[in-house]
Amino acid sequence: MSQTLRDDDGVTNPSANPDLHQVVDQAIAANPERRRLMKAGLGAAAMSFFAGEAALAATTKSAPKAAEAKMGFEAVATSTGDAVIVPPGYRATPFIPWGEPINAAGPAFKPDATNSAAEQEKQLGDNHDGMAFFGFDKAGKAFGERSDEGLLVLNHEYINPEYFYAPDSNAANWMLPFSLEKARKGQAAHGVSVVHVRRNAKGQWEHVKASRFNRRIHGNTPIALQGPAAGHDLLKTAADSTGTTALGTLNNCGNGRTPWGTYLTCEENFNGYFGWNGEHKPTDLENRYGISKDGAGYLWHTVDARFDVNANPNEPNRFGWIVEIDPFNPEAKPVKRTALGRFKHENAELVIAPSGHAVVYMGCDERGEYVYKFVSAGKFDRRNPTSAANRKLLEQGTLYVARFDAGATAGDRMGTGEWIPLVHGQNGLTAANGFASQADIAIRTRQAADRVGATMMDRPEWVAANPKKPGEVFITLTNNNRRGSNPPSSIKADGTTVAGSARPAVDEANPRSNNSWGHIVRWNEADGEGSATRFEWDIFVMAGQPGASGERAPTANINAGNLFNSPDGLAFDDFGRMWIQTDGSYAHTGEFAGMGNNQMLVADPATKDIRRFLVGPSGCEITGITWTPDRKTMFINVQHPGEMGNHPAAPYKNDGKAYTDNDIARDPTRFSQWPVPGMRPRAATVIVTREDGGVIGG
Ligand code: FEO
Ligand code: CA
Ligand code: CA
Repeated sequence: MSQTLRDDDGVTNPSANPDLHQVVDQAIAANPERRRLMKAGLGAAAMSFFAGEAALAATTKSAPKAAEAKMGFEAVATSTGDAVIVPPGYRATPFIPWGEPINAAGPAFKPDATNSAAEQEKQLGDNHDGMAFFGFDKAGKAFGERSDEGLLVLNHEYINPEYFYAPDSNAANWMLPFSLEKARKGQAAHGVSVVHVRRNAKGQWEHVKASRFNRRIHGNTPIALQGPAAGHDLLKTAADSTGTTALGTLNNCGNGRTPWGTYLTCEENFNGYFGWNGEHKPTDLENRYGISKDGAGYLWHTVDARFDVNANPNEPNRFGWIVEIDPFNPEAKPVKRTALGRFKHENAELVIAPSGHAVVYMGCDERGEYVYKFVSAGKFDRRNPTSAANRKLLEQGTLYVARFDAGATAGDRMGTGEWIPLVHGQNGLTAANGFASQADIAIRTRQAADRVGATMMDRPEWVAANPKKPGEVFITLTNNNRRGSNPPSSIKADGTTVAGSARPAVDEANPRSNNSWGHIVRWNEADGEGSATRFEWDIFVMAGQPGASGERAPTANINAGNLFNSPDGLAFDDFGRMWIQTDGSYAHTGEFAGMGNNQMLVADPATKDIRRFLVGPSGCEITGITWTPDRKTMFINVQHPGEMGNHPAAPYKNDGKAYTDNDIARDPTRFSQWPVPGMRPRAATVIVTREDGGVIGG
């Protein structure tokens, strides 16, 4: 995150552990020469005091032959440089960065960040995240299987104010004085872009700017509310007395896609945009979803009454949903699907189970939150994928939350689990316990899950289902520094716990008290059927340093050649490769030594081998992943390049102090200039292709 914005979830959250700044400071104190190296921005090769690099080449060469079919590429080394690194024989080409015009009528990006709110509404948004490529049909009008032309649909999760706003008149804070125009510009940079793309005769991808399909959906776009919560009193506002039309979608994190050709965008940390002016005592509902006086620091509530919960107490309830968008119908109003529950949605992995039910797997990303799935009431018509009936499958169904049990043997880091239905009248979800209806459960999903005893996880991020093994599903648990004795505390069943405040004991599925590196859990649904209520689970990988011991020890599939932390993005390609993307510490020192910038790796689910495929530029995370149907083009996103955090090359001032956001806002090319040299850093898509035109990863 930007220093200016508060993060509900990051590895920088308060804990008993030293802050990452402290780790770097301690390293510098121990050897002042390190600061000179950091200031010089030298890459990993020069940083010989960082562990893990030396063994890399040897590990790459000795990779097991069995994995070659799944991983026909040479592993790449870590990097702390300001560039995208891919294996030999691959190309990485930046595409559609923040601020590019969305269509032929859109205004040009102003390099000094002075575009207006109205202009931003006609440009690509900021901080690209989840993404899906939808090929056209032969006629070039609707959803099909073409690999040379289609619609690239991508999320814009949030903004980095230090790069997003041109400095104003306040010397101490470039964002001040804040204004409604600035809030509107921020809102315009959130949401989703639909981008018509085509591969030209030279094999290069281009944005078809004259197309009618190009579209921006942003923080003020009208969006329908559908499902059990639509029209409920808690969704009604002065501007919408029916509780059926929300304005905008925000904090669009991961995504999903449907086999009927629609895109799912997931609203994650929506709480951060809200706050209050004057006095306010937060309700249990507000506390449980993390609504606080000043929010995350966006300042919208200070100038736009919609985001002041004193003025508009129900407005936050209209966020935290999964939104379905039909990219092939630019006039269609997006729809918030309330049957899928309201929480801090990461992604939405949709599979058609052998039974025909559409199953959507979802994580709620905050420390100690839960894993969910939705099972459609209706069944998918495989003969007619885009039928009207299929398009209604997310309207109605059953929402479940997961409990991970220890199973037959304690301490073996595997076990059994149960999907508990969040259905009114069942499992204590009754009027006597404060749940008036199914609508109430949909709006207060976290509190319903508290009541039924779901398992608190280490920040559930993306879920991915193995296309080669029905019922096998993986989830990234990115990190968690709040677990174990100190003393332990669980989320209360009565739903009054403040978001992220509980500190549960370790359990088998979350076995570290200080899980700063993260892990990936796998489960297999009973009989391979997605609508089953029982499953078996195990741990696929615990990330970390090979030298760590006890609960900190990583699994055997971690070695000096594939070090990473904080797995986040996760997706399978059609060949059964599992792609892992990271959003963690790039400090490259201390417990993160040798891990470098955020990266993308490939895992073989059968052998558990993991190999690094790509490293991102300075300060970014890698997120969002999609392919053309022929798998010869991969699109990924580079989010928040230039975030200073604890990067070893982050700039220092003449007085020896680290740059603040106010400093970098006034000197925006000082740290990162990715993807356009000479310009401020901007989130962008990266097109990955092979020089020989082959399948990516093969
Ligand atoms: Fe938006 Fe949990 O990542
Ligand atoms: Ca066990
Ligand atoms: Ca994420």
